[in-house]
Amino acid sequence: MKVVAFIGSARKKHTYNAVKQLMNNLQSFDAIEYEIVQLSNYRLEVCKGCKTCINKGEEFCPLNDDRDILIEKMINSDGIIFASPNYFFQISGLMKIFLDRIAFFGHRPLFFGKAFTSLVVQGVYGGKKLVKYLDFIGKVLGCNVTKGCCLNSLEPMTEKGQNKINKILNKQSKKFYSNLIKKEYTTPSLLQLTMFRITRTSMKLAQNETFRDYEYYKKNGWFESNYYHPVQLGPFKKTMGKLFDKIAASVVHKR
Ligand SMILES: Cc1cc2nc3c(=O)[nH]c(=O)nc-3n(C[C@H](O)[C@H](O)[C@H](O)COP(=O)(O)O)c2cc1C
Repeated sequence: MKVVAFIGSARKKHTYNAVKQLMNNLQSFDAIEYEIVQLSNYRLEVCKGCKTCINKGEEFCPLNDDRDILIEKMINSDGIIFASPNYFFQISGLMKIFLDRIAFFGHRPLFFGKAFTSLVVQGVYGGKKLVKYLDFIGKVLGCNVTKGCCLNSLEPMTEKGQNKINKILNKQSKKFYSNLIKKEYTTPSLLQLTMFRITRTSMKLAQNETFRDYEYYKKNGWFESNYYHPVQLGPFKKTMGKLFDKIAASVVHKR
């Protein structure tokens, strides 16, 4: 099994150390290969906002940087970690530039069955909502998400502070490891099911063959499937799914 972590800090300090510790913990459980990617070591350009990746296809993006090298690392891993410092109550700019570069996966998710978690490292305050945001991105990418964690690294670090970090990371490693070995597709939440059904129905009815998402949905059989990945829906979600298809269809017809 392989895990890749993307770090949004340009220095090898608290965020890096936390990721390294989590990886060491994982290795103490199993023979796990890992890679720690410091985004600052890669060329990532700022998205121009042309939406070519979304509408036409990511291969037509006018930027020429290391985006695809990083995507390959995600594709070739069983587990993915996004780790960012808290900068001014947000993820770092570096991490956001990376996320913008892979935002087209929000339209065409690919990472089903992969385990995901997030780490946010901060001085004292504001990081919890960043964990929520990164975990949400993990879900949008299609991953099975282990709720991330937020660590306080106020300097100078005390022994008590470090012990607290160790405790949180030990717990986080165990939870992430059990997600990693599951390797199964999770049942979508009602919100995830709603989003999928509404998107695919409106796209199906729009019938725009030149639209990249349409082609992708068609290729993956998503116009006929229950969800993005094979999943057995219970009677409630089955009924709700059909209802969402109908609602989306009526909205499209009214436009
Ligand atoms: C530009 C900048 C903004 C920061 N903003 C916050 C903040 O809003 N809240 C907070 O608790 N810590 C904040 N910090 C502290 C960092 O989150 C903290 O030092 C963290 O350990 C940095 O990660 P690193 O050690 O991996 O570089 C900020 C640090 C920098 C450099």
